[in-house]
Amino acid sequence: MYNLADRNIVLGVTGSISVYKAVDLASKITQAGAVLNVIMTPEATNFVSPITFQGVSGRRPYNDMWDVNPDIAEAHVALARQAELLVVAPATATFMARLALGLPEEMVSLTALATRAPVIVCPAMDSQMYEHPATQEHLNTLGSRGIQVVGPEEGRLASGQMGPGRLSEVETIIGWIRHVLGRAGDLAGKKVVVTAGGTHEPIDPVRFIGNNSSGKMGYALAEAARDRGADVVLVSGPSALPGPVAVEIVRVRRAAEMRDAVIAGCAGADVLIMAAAVADYQPVETVRDKIKREQAETLSIPMVPTPDILMEVGSREALLKVGFAAESQDLIANARRKIENKQLDLIVANDITASDAGFATDNNRVVILDSAGGQAQLPLMPKYDVAWHILDRIVSLLAGRKSQAEA
Ligand code: C5P
Repeated sequence: MYNLADRNIVLGVTGSISVYKAVDLASKITQAGAVLNVIMTPEATNFVSPITFQGVSGRRPYNDMWDVNPDIAEAHVALARQAELLVVAPATATFMARLALGLPEEMVSLTALATRAPVIVCPAMDSQMYEHPATQEHLNTLGSRGIQVVGPEEGRLASGQMGPGRLSEVETIIGWIRHVLGRAGDLAGKKVVVTAGGTHEPIDPVRFIGNNSSGKMGYALAEAARDRGADVVLVSGPSALPGPVAVEIVRVRRAAEMRDAVIAGCAGADVLIMAAAVADYQPVETVRDKIKREQAETLSIPMVPTPDILMEVGSREALLKVGFAAESQDLIANARRKIENKQLDLIVANDITASDAGFATDNNRVVILDSAGGQAQLPLMPKYDVAWHILDRIVSLLAGRKSQAEA
């Protein structure tokens, strides 16, 4: 949704066994609200029928440049002109050679040559073909012309061999599409630092004090900020989530490491969003050897407070600061107190006793409070949507600061 809604995207499909994945890609782009036109090379139609793409995109694919009865005259020129983005997935070695040499012979390379829109190319082929100097040279040529090359990934190939050549995952390609289409968004030119996940405070070589944070809210914020054009640094505690594409990710373990990474990341930053569930206490020391059960009847671990990162990063004048408050009681009062104590511009409060929202779920129900006393309750929604709402508030606060500075 959001930055793909109503955007005009052309998907070029060339003849590789991985065409079946492009069907899923076309479906996801369409579900995200984009206007999707698919063009196919004749080879691609040997793998999957155009009818399948018509089914998922709701539009008739273009695959025959000699069609005497096309929907639009000079389809490749018209599509090239309308497109806000051309994605070629999968892109064969032959297609890349045609584009690099400027020898279009079918609808996809004709459109790629005719368009002035950004182009993303996702190669897929056997490793031997991919590694051939001719293919590598063509890829370098495409990259030097500003074409975004995504993948290929390593793994099992259709030949049964392992190596580079697999089409990138659909989610990865969608991440690049969102990033490229979002480059001129309302956070363009802004640097946003986001923290995510919990921290692990080590007790001994095998044990730690942690919490239930999955990182989903912070990762969604990093993606949404990227999709609005920001340069994003994501400081992540231990999390099973894959790093979002086109986001600088710094992986840390302990609160103290997160503090150092946040302070380094905040140099030149406009916004800090602390979505991480940072431990409040850490063991005084990490014991060198594993603690044994026989050692004592009861076990106490002396602890000291961790550094409060939000407190340490400086005043709200220099950096727009957003905190999170996960509370099990007195949600609003506790959140208000944190705005004052931690000198925040906004705080996002959520009640962690709700079973359908908060930690480790895909949805969240939050209240956004600001330093001027304002308060907005959002209904239950996916974390990416929550992130978009939080960023709406951030964008308007940044605009307010800019007009204040100019006055
Ligand atoms: O005080 P409490 O931990 O509830 O505050 C939550 C907010 O403070 C979150 O935004 C969290 O990321 C941040 N925090 C921090 N440093 C800590 C603990 C929490 O910046 N040591």
